[in-house]
Amino acid sequence: MHSPKLTKATAISLLAAIIAVIPIFSETSMDEMWGDSVVKLQADNTEKGELFIDGNYAMFIHWGLYSSLANLVDGKTYYGIGEWIMHPNMAGIPVEAYKQLAASFNPAQFDAEAIVQIAKDAGMKYIVITAKHHEGFAMYDSTASDFNIVDATPYGKDPLVALSVACRAAGLGLGVYYSHFQDWTAPGGGRGLKVDADGNPASFKDYFVNKCLPQVEELTSNYGPLVLFWFDTPGSISKEDAEQLIAVVRKNQPNTLINGRVGHGLGDYKGLGDMEVPLRNVPGIWESVDTTNDSWAYAWYDENWKSPKEILRRLISTVARGGTYMLNIGPRADGTVPERASQALRRSGEWINEYPQVVYGADASPWQHALPWGDVTVQGNRLLLSVFEWPDAGKLYLPGLLGEVQAAHLLNSEGAVPITFTRSGNTVLFNLPADAPDPLVSVINVDLRSAPKADPTFALDPTMMTTIEAEFCTVEGATLKQKRWMEKFGEWKHLDQVSAWKEGASATWQVEVLEEGDYQVGLSYSGQGRLVWEIAVTDGETIRNQQAASQIYQHHPMGWLNFPIPGRYTINVRLLEGDGDTSSLSAIHFSPVMLK
Ligand code: GLC
Repeated sequence: MHSPKLTKATAISLLAAIIAVIPIFSETSMDEMWGDSVVKLQADNTEKGELFIDGNYAMFIHWGLYSSLANLVDGKTYYGIGEWIMHPNMAGIPVEAYKQLAASFNPAQFDAEAIVQIAKDAGMKYIVITAKHHEGFAMYDSTASDFNIVDATPYGKDPLVALSVACRAAGLGLGVYYSHFQDWTAPGGGRGLKVDADGNPASFKDYFVNKCLPQVEELTSNYGPLVLFWFDTPGSISKEDAEQLIAVVRKNQPNTLINGRVGHGLGDYKGLGDMEVPLRNVPGIWESVDTTNDSWAYAWYDENWKSPKEILRRLISTVARGGTYMLNIGPRADGTVPERASQALRRSGEWINEYPQVVYGADASPWQHALPWGDVTVQGNRLLLSVFEWPDAGKLYLPGLLGEVQAAHLLNSEGAVPITFTRSGNTVLFNLPADAPDPLVSVINVDLRSAPKADPTFALDPTMMTTIEAEFCTVEGATLKQKRWMEKFGEWKHLDQVSAWKEGASATWQVEVLEEGDYQVGLSYSGQGRLVWEIAVTDGETIRNQQAASQIYQHHPMGWLNFPIPGRYTINVRLLEGDGDTSSLSAIHFSPVMLK
């Protein structure tokens, strides 16, 4: 039996040995020393998307000096993204005072293996960690700047070494986040200091040559193979500078993917806005980045965690839209991960472990948008229906399916239970048990005789509410555009909406009615005062109603509309009274009244 002391000493000397060895590894061939990463990487740039096929779920980590403030400065809580705490929009901390934080930054509880285990249990395939955020502090051993965790803190160790070793051991990929343009503490850094320590003028070029380029060189040389190099906020960086950074990454890490935020349309793939899960399929290689709560960095007050079900819903929706999903945790300054984040990740990871085919290597939904009860991902000729809302009536409608169903099974921990179905035209109706077999998300496996194809027209579900967002309408005399806003500082929301309503303007949706009858129709909108809306079915009924508007988007019931027979209908919405400029329509809703 080892005494605890001996074990610790052995561990320390082992770590020291690893640290001593890593620079030598990087000087020789990294491929030779590390072999292929488990996350499939291809040398050929055109194949780089492979990472996002098998590895379409990843962990993002925001961790830095800001974590030690946790959004609390001099007894005052600043709500919003904590890694921006020194910025004037948050607490506005002067550079010298901010730099002092390093003197007491001591993440003694940081346990790379524990974090890697959380990612692994969560079903994630690689980890991307903030090596340097806008604050300019290197969370790794940097010779280019002594404002780094090894030289400037009592901790004195390099967590990136530990993380790269732990990722490697667990078979996970490693990537780094690097704020290339913004650096608020380095002389000449983007949106940062205009002078150096002696008061002489400092230009962006000074920062770029003395800090940015050398740090990208260090990060791509000293930590083994990186699956991703994640640049952020290109700001006004020149194309030439961005290309130079890319060249350094390519030279040292020919297999690494580079994200689009490097700027100037460069990089290997598209990144969507922060916290954005799109509603419509997005072509090409792309990534959504999201958070387990509402913050990137650890914020003491933020207990607004996404439940395991919400995590799965956002992950599956991203994969069903054709993308890859990177979900963030913000460890505390001591290195520990908030328990509620790890619990939610583990629980959702158990689910993924049970239904891996829903996520990994899965293709986008041929419907190109979510369906009222959930979403669809594809493996070959197989559809995987992830049911987020179990239909009460035990009947699940799959509209618009082109092609023949061979068999359908409900998946559960015991295996696959065959389910019966009927078909009318392109609509398949599955007969299900009254209760959902899985408390989180139930999965139906549908085998088709050919490659999946679907008619993307929205169908009104006869058993539950169907919501159709503004993104899917066409407009005349009004403007359909995406609106982005920050709920709190840095907490982004994205929505397509119709506004700037002119006289006679309309928003039009095409819908497929599967079962005739009355439907309760509602509109989601924001605006001022009271608004009068008219909703008309071409060659059918028209309803109108006045309801209040508020600054936030709300669902307002409008009235019942009858659809006398199944088939295709055109729905026209017009604003009859109210301020056309501020009225903003985001969705239409249909709920079956089910009088029968
Ligand atoms: C933004 C923010 C940053 C955060 C990042 C995550 O660009 O500036 O604080 O790290 O998005 O995607």
